[in-house]
Amino acid sequence: MIEMDQIYKSFGSVEAIKDVGIYLQKGEAVGLLGPNGAGKSTLIDMLTSLTKPTKGQVRFNGKNVYGQLTQFRTQIGVVPQELALYSDLTAEENLLFFGKAYKLKGTKLKQKVKELLQLVELEERKKDRVKTFSGGMKRRLNLAIALIHEPAYLVLDEPTVGIDPHSRRYLLDLIKRLQLERGTTVLYTSHYMEEVEFLCDRIYVLDRGSIIASGTQEEIKNIVSQEYIYKLLVAEKNAQLEQKLNEQEQIHGVYETEEGYRIASYSGALFEKIIQLASDSNVQVLGIHIQESTLEDVFLYLTGRSLRD
Ligand SMILES: Nc1ncnc2c1ncn2[C@@H]1O[C@H](COP(=O)(O)OP(=O)(O)O)[C@@H](O)[C@H]1O
Ligand SMILES: [Mg+2]
Repeated sequence: MIEMDQIYKSFGSVEAIKDVGIYLQKGEAVGLLGPNGAGKSTLIDMLTSLTKPTKGQVRFNGKNVYGQLTQFRTQIGVVPQELALYSDLTAEENLLFFGKAYKLKGTKLKQKVKELLQLVELEERKKDRVKTFSGGMKRRLNLAIALIHEPAYLVLDEPTVGIDPHSRRYLLDLIKRLQLERGTTVLYTSHYMEEVEFLCDRIYVLDRGSIIASGTQEEIKNIVSQEYIYKLLVAEKNAQLEQKLNEQEQIHGVYETEEGYRIASYSGALFEKIIQLASDSNVQVLGIHIQESTLEDVFLYLTGRSLRD
């Protein structure tokens, strides 16, 4: 078990993390969800002993990690936000290099490298230099490297940012398999709520350096269970309509989406009203749906802001 409580981290006058406590129990998949700049990387850098907290302690199996760093680091694999690969080396050479850093050698190392290249579907490209790889291939190799010493804990910092849909799907499925089939404990950091919803048993929502919600998905979504979310799809967005919606007493949140508006209310009987308001503003309605609450709604509800930038 890894745990940290009452953790603070400052960079000069910037308080990046304020009084945060999180824990990771063996075998679970935990999500750390928050928008850019929330403090996710800062928090997991401390959790994985890359940096020290300004205040507070990180414990591994009940004891301070700094009294058992070598032991701790053999148990933990980190996929950093920034790629950590040698671009002039081949995929295979990268894995061999990092394997040796963990004192693996001989046939055991070769066997492990082969297995990992298969696992991340890079076997056919193992003799190619990393600089010729796509973003998704690099991300997959980065994950393989984090697994070379068979860590019990795997910590991933936004591993799917900027990659193609195929690699993204593959990585998510693979991480899920590692947890379910090998019992690997996963801490998954992201600002994509769909990924966290797919992967994680338990979730922490981080905003501006503080945890604003935590619990199972169901528990977190219950925060907004009294809410109805209407998705209004329109031919063209319209400021007058937005204002009219905002003026309704029964509506307490109107947010623009790509295709129209997301409208939050405690009433489930607003279809006609919304369509009427759209018609009054000469807005053509393409569709209206009521939607179950998502982690995005929870974030909006708690902060008044969207998870996306
Ligand atoms: N080394 C650093 N020096 C100064 N400020 C930093 C440093 N690292 C992070 N920060 C600040 O801490 C806050 C959290 O950053 P970060 O942990 O990278 O957020 P996230 O990973 O959620 O996007 C931001 O305001 C960022 O500017
Ligand atoms: Mg980050």
